[in-house]
Amino acid sequence: MTESTFIHRFEPAISAGSPPLLLLHGTGGDENDLLGLGKMISPGSALLSPRGRVLEHGMPRFFRRLAEGIFDEDDVRRRALELDDFVSGARTQYGIAAPVAVGFSNGANIAAALLLLQPEVLAGAILLRAMVPLSDPPTADLAGKPILLLSGQTDPIVPPGNSAKLAALLAQAGASVTHRVLPAGHQLSQADVTLARDWIGKVDAKAA
Ligand code: MLT
Repeated sequence: MTESTFIHRFEPAISAGSPPLLLLHGTGGDENDLLGLGKMISPGSALLSPRGRVLEHGMPRFFRRLAEGIFDEDDVRRRALELDDFVSGARTQYGIAAPVAVGFSNGANIAAALLLLQPEVLAGAILLRAMVPLSDPPTADLAGKPILLLSGQTDPIVPPGNSAKLAALLAQAGASVTHRVLPAGHQLSQADVTLARDWIGKVDAKAA
């Protein structure tokens, strides 16, 4: 059993039929960071927003890294289990369905790890500036899971080959992957919001 307490915010759904969102912030963010983004992407959704439990020089993250882009993979695996535990508990506590993750940067990387390690916990994912989280991931069954991966063409943290590799890995596991490379860096742009909103609207319609 893993320790599953995360400081978090929860906002109930405004409209039935919108998927709950699991909001996962980037390095140095917290549980408040992505609430606005979540509301822009899917205004009616319940929002579940935990704060990463790892501190790097005081900055919250979802797992340890050894250097930029070099991850402590044992910690990635352990923290993914903790987050899985937290989401399962929160689903019972708040009475929500399996969420669609919306992760940015480090939050997108833990979401990608969750997809590969605990695929049943997420109904889908929007991965904003994600990279491959594990060098030797297990064979996951992501059959039909909708995933939107939005990368930045000039992202100094995520090389283009890395995001392409992540897209391929998820697609090989059976996910229904949409990968778009935007004229952007690591930071989010208006195009991210628009594409994410359009994409989740279509996912929604399919589920209805
Ligand atoms: C990570 O550590 O997850 C990535 O390098 C992204 C970041 O947080 O800078």
